[in-house]
Amino acid sequence: MAQLWKGRFKKELAKETNDFNSSIKFDCRMFEEDIKGSIAHATMLGSTGIIEKSESEKIVSGLSGILDDIKSGKLEIDMSAEDIHTFIEGELTARLGQTGKRLHTARSRNDQVALDIRMVLKKEIDEISEKLKELISVLCTKAEEHKSTIMPGYTHLQRAQPITFAHHVMAYASMLCRDLDRLADVKKRMNVLPLGSGALAGTTYPLDRGMVADILGFDDITANSLDGVSDRDFCIELASALSLIMVHLSRFSEEIIMWCSWEFKFIELDDAFSTGSSIMPQKKNPDIAELVRGKSGRVFGDLTTLLTVMKGIALAYNKDMQEDKEAIFDAVDTVKMCLNAFTPMIDTMTVLKDNMRNAAARGFINATDCADYLVGKGLPFRDAYKATGELVALCIDKGLTLETLPIEEYKAVCDIFDDGVYDAINLEKCVNDRLVVGGPSQSSVDAQIKKARNFIK
Ligand code: ARG
Repeated sequence: MAQLWKGRFKKELAKETNDFNSSIKFDCRMFEEDIKGSIAHATMLGSTGIIEKSESEKIVSGLSGILDDIKSGKLEIDMSAEDIHTFIEGELTARLGQTGKRLHTARSRNDQVALDIRMVLKKEIDEISEKLKELISVLCTKAEEHKSTIMPGYTHLQRAQPITFAHHVMAYASMLCRDLDRLADVKKRMNVLPLGSGALAGTTYPLDRGMVADILGFDDITANSLDGVSDRDFCIELASALSLIMVHLSRFSEEIIMWCSWEFKFIELDDAFSTGSSIMPQKKNPDIAELVRGKSGRVFGDLTTLLTVMKGIALAYNKDMQEDKEAIFDAVDTVKMCLNAFTPMIDTMTVLKDNMRNAAARGFINATDCADYLVGKGLPFRDAYKATGELVALCIDKGLTLETLPIEEYKAVCDIFDDGVYDAINLEKCVNDRLVVGGPSQSSVDAQIKKARNFIK
């Protein structure tokens, strides 16, 4: 397919140059946005009198026809074109002749591509946000089912204090709510129309940029044409928000992987979301969680790519910036793919409550509560801490737990103890007395669920 910029050149483009230079393999996914952006531009050119109204109307209907034909499969995108912008404009001219050639008045591919990526990414942000909401909703439902499912909470991967499974999954819901918020924030800064920046220095035509912004649903127009064409902050911000989503999914995956092991056995994944081994007949592997954990690396890589591409570019547009698309599209596609598999995996997993409860019963996770009981009886916390530590050591020696240690042994370490200690260290009570906002008690978790559900509404 012929280039748009032939006039100055005497020789044909080398095939190697075209192969290297062409971006159509990855920017063809922007065809719809490219056409809609062109329709808005042509409409504005007609209404401002920059081109004849009748020509603007022909261009708009020509472009609509091209859009329909690509969507229906009647028109195939030519993969030898330089990019999607060249292809669409070439096709329009093939259909309309002279009139088609007026579309690019007062526009450059530099502001055109800056527009197209923003339009595509705004749509992708909406899709990813919907997927995040689905996952948050699944987590809320799991939490509702497991408000009294006691499990050990960990620090240093050592059993620490009693929590519930509901409390644990709502921690991830909190992270994902922040992710949603971040995406909305990225979209806000992305939602600024660059068209009208021209190649770099704006244009002498009396454009109505506000009109184009209104047609395309942009909140504002860019303030400086050099920045308008060469800003890719919004790609970097999005890749960064996506990287954080992957950090969260990856941490969750790591826990799923541990919980599936025989060493934990806190959950069982549904057969539909697990895989087997080609040699070991007994195996049921959490491949989805492992792949999500692994794919986080791709997304961080995409962020690094974008930062590195942009860091040394003199104003304004440089071809380096064509590298933005593969990186940000890969990040977007990876996150969507991960969420598509991760959400139903969580939704269908079975929580093995008894195993969680058994793990909670061993490991002295109520030791803090035992110390707090002594504090309630007037002992300074440091002394209470020391006495409880001695009791734990005693239990380990005797193969007992704080629940099964006889009261005489308690009294021998500290005579303040009475039978009330057994109630104080009861795991259900330990959990449900933690009424503090954000804590694991049923009422605190209810509030967390309510907040998350409201947030995704
Ligand atoms: N394919 C190009 C890109 O993605 C479109 C802009 C081309 N502009 C130019 N001055 N060569 O960046």
